[in-house]
Amino acid sequence: MLSVVVGASRGIGLGLAAALAARGEQVIATARGAAPELAATGAEVTPLELLNQASIERFVDRLSATAIDRLVLNAGLLGPRDQDGSQALEVWQDVLMTNTAAPLMLAARLIPRVLAGGLKQIVFISSDNASLELCEGDKPIYRASKAGLNCGMRAIALSYPVPGLSLFAIHPGWVQTDMGGPGATITVAQSVAGMLTVFDRRPPTGSYWNWQGEEMPW
Ligand SMILES: NC(=O)c1ccc[n+]([C@@H]2O[C@H](COP(=O)([O-])OP(=O)(O)OC[C@H]3O[C@@H](n4cnc5c(N)ncnc54)[C@H](OP(=O)(O)O)[C@@H]3O)[C@@H](O)[C@H]2O)c1
Repeated sequence: MLSVVVGASRGIGLGLAAALAARGEQVIATARGAAPELAATGAEVTPLELLNQASIERFVDRLSATAIDRLVLNAGLLGPRDQDGSQALEVWQDVLMTNTAAPLMLAARLIPRVLAGGLKQIVFISSDNASLELCEGDKPIYRASKAGLNCGMRAIALSYPVPGLSLFAIHPGWVQTDMGGPGATITVAQSVAGMLTVFDRRPPTGSYWNWQGEEMPW
């Protein structure tokens, strides 16, 4: 069983890579720089910078002959904490590229490798901030990026009506990481344990869940 975790140097991605390795799975996990904590999990660490096309090409090439059971697209960027949408295009660009374009492109590039695997699972780590129904204002750049991620996830899911494919988005909860901050309500371990239970249920392709196994409103 091979899981590939994108964005695993810290936070939720590190927790996911560690938990998957601890249950005996082979894990290939990405980091932009040195990632000693990740290497210590037993995962194979491979470089990937989502804001660099050449880096993405090298990563895709690295996996070109690999059958991937589970691909987890976790890397994400909040952008400025006090964002109101007036920020410069460069700020928008980094958030939209990291949270929307890059994970969707990677899924589109790697789907043949996932279809060659036994599990056929692609997980997009999304957010409750992706939900239009739950939107209460604030963080327009980040919300737009995650709503776009969910929209692209649905489009890719509907483009691949392959029996057995489980391609879905999941909200990890409000998690105590650099992004979630110390006031967040759950630990990485709680989030990861909940999400792995959802992964193992093999949600229908094109769906949107939270870490507690509840379907999320779009
Ligand atoms: N924490 C929460 O409460 C929460 C809630 C809802 C959704 N989420 C989502 O959950 C995912 C993980 O969040 P987190 O809380 O663990 O965030 P985090 O602690 O800020 O970690 C973000 C991860 O993404 C990587 N990353 C960011 N930009 C990248 C880029 N351009 N190329 C490659 N890797 C990049 C980071 O690598 P570096 O170490 O190199 O920066 C790091 O490994 C994100 O998609 C986030 O939007 C989090």
